Amino acid sequence: MHAAAPSPSSFSAPGALRGRIRVPGDKSISHRSLMLSALAVGESRVSGLLEGEDVLATAAAMRAMGADIVRGDDGLWRIHGVGVGGLLQPGQALDMGNSGTSTRLLMGLVASHPITATFIGDASLSKRPMGRVIEPLGLMGAEFTASPGGRLPLMVRGLCPAVPLEYRLPVASAQVKSAILLAGLNTPGTTRVIEPVPTRDHSERMLRGFGAALEVTEDDDGARIIALTGEAELRPQAITVPGDPSSAAFPLVAALLVPGSDVVIENVGINETRAGLIGVLREMGADIALLHERVVGGEPVADLHVRHSPLSGIEVPPSVAPSMIDEFPILFVASALASGRTVMRGLDELRVKESDRIAVMAEGLSAIGARVEELPDGMVIEGTGGDPLAGGATIAANLDHRIAMSFAVAGLVSRQPVIVDDMAPVATSFPQFTTLMTSLGAEAA
Ligand code: S3P
Repeated sequence: MHAAAPSPSSFSAPGALRGRIRVPGDKSISHRSLMLSALAVGESRVSGLLEGEDVLATAAAMRAMGADIVRGDDGLWRIHGVGVGGLLQPGQALDMGNSGTSTRLLMGLVASHPITATFIGDASLSKRPMGRVIEPLGLMGAEFTASPGGRLPLMVRGLCPAVPLEYRLPVASAQVKSAILLAGLNTPGTTRVIEPVPTRDHSERMLRGFGAALEVTEDDDGARIIALTGEAELRPQAITVPGDPSSAAFPLVAALLVPGSDVVIENVGINETRAGLIGVLREMGADIALLHERVVGGEPVADLHVRHSPLSGIEVPPSVAPSMIDEFPILFVASALASGRTVMRGLDELRVKESDRIAVMAEGLSAIGARVEELPDGMVIEGTGGDPLAGGATIAANLDHRIAMSFAVAGLVSRQPVIVDDMAPVATSFPQFTTLMTSLGAEAA
């Protein structure tokens, strides 16, 4: 959805990074705020919404299906919903841009409404697997016509009433879980998702907040069973979206790596299903203090005080992967500067994100002088012990915002420039990235 002309950039750090910043709203919570508000009857108000391209794609789609969504000059978003079951047939294809979350969650919503919708997206999104949601939503009765390999462009024909489902997630995916729960909202009876490995729980928290009957229990093997009673009536809400820990990760690692840095990142979500990176970095020796812990919009939040720290390599337990799945690209950069070896496994899912993040990061890090070994499901990185990387390469961002930001941060700790061929994808999740990094003392050219 971003402009066709690529915008190359390289970042450097003439000195320590210092200051206080606030990162934009959480992407996952922003998507869900719009979707659930669009299904409530009455006016919901959302402050702190992430105004990135991915979330704007969700807003446009919900408008196309009948919701009234307006942004006030004060930055407050007002949404008048259509009620569960009230989504209208969109007049044209829904353009999801780069956003996998919009696509998969909206496929869930359409699946149990008596409407048909076509989903299209950019080159990155059109390569991503949708079979993981087509399968369970098909079991609920929706019909799909997809491009080869279960990819976009694809058409969903919803069934109303749909058939309630009990489904055990074969991959640890909050998007799949959420697609099924959202389909369950307009389905009679109880829809159950069994989650052997916990993933981000924003959908569960927010569905409850909007008044849906949702229960979470554990089975004998410790799997979470999420049971949602369908044909719910959602009540409009006032939501404050906390800062996105996945965006905070970039200035956070930058401050750890650039000598002398001392940075506070305010208002960051620290929900335990998202905060894996903080624990891993602390284990590596990072000095990160959580200040003013509080609850914002039903989510735990803190200000993160981060100081430059020498890092040591560790073995990252595969079990933490779901709680930091979007943070591995920047953890790879941190590992490249640590002393000793960092071993990261159990990351198969990284291969089907906005790009193949294992392959793209391994290639890019090697090009700027890091010692990396690519594994089928992860990476082994032998760090420099704090010495700068060589740099001196141009990196293809591959329409992947987190690849672009990871190599922007790598440039801060490289001798020669690291040129990111296109920073435009950053607008999907963190439009203020360059402004905030330069406010801390980084230079962008
Ligand atoms: C998301 C879930 C994650 C994450 C994505 C946002 C969500 O994907 O990578 O950026 O909002 O549900 P999976 O849980 O499907 O791996």
